[in-house]
Amino acid sequence: MMSLMWWSLLVSLLAYRNVSANELPLETNVKANACNITGAWRNELGSTLRVKVEGSQVTGVYQTAVESTRGAAGRERKAKIIGVVGEGPQPTVSFAVMWEKGSCSAWVGQCFVLPDGVRVLKTFWLLRSVADNLASNWGSTRLGEDLFFMT
Ligand SMILES: *[C@@H]1O[C@H](CO)[C@@H](O)[C@H](O)[C@H]1NC(C)=O
Repeated sequence: MMSLMWWSLLVSLLAYRNVSANELPLETNVKANACNITGAWRNELGSTLRVKVEGSQVTGVYQTAVESTRGAAGRERKAKIIGVVGEGPQPTVSFAVMWEKGSCSAWVGQCFVLPDGVRVLKTFWLLRSVADNLASNWGSTRLGEDLFFMT
């Protein structure tokens, strides 16, 4: 009888510990400060990124301020974005666009919350231009870095 009482006391203590661990205020702080990428971003060149997140899917519109050759990004220099985003307070992200004239770009990176609460998207990109043939394949991919700030 005595041992049963001790046992149930131990069980309820453990249960209490679990509940309080789930209710840590830290958890809600991390959520509130999470790097939510939904919104409008601008990079160091003035290109803009407008995105929406649904679950792990990223959709939106990219408007580039630069292009490899005149007209390569189309008349409006805009393209639809398709991508994926991870979970957690500072998720990784990957998205791609297809430009009007057949070149395409892809970015991978991560969203960071700076100490002052500012959100930044630190990325690398690849730009693939259309090669006329295999012989000109070697020089048809560019690599760069983009830093986006939420606007
Ligand atoms: C992310 O931000 C958008 C726009 O501010 C908001 O509607 C959405 O609920 C946020 N998502 C999360 C998971 O906080």
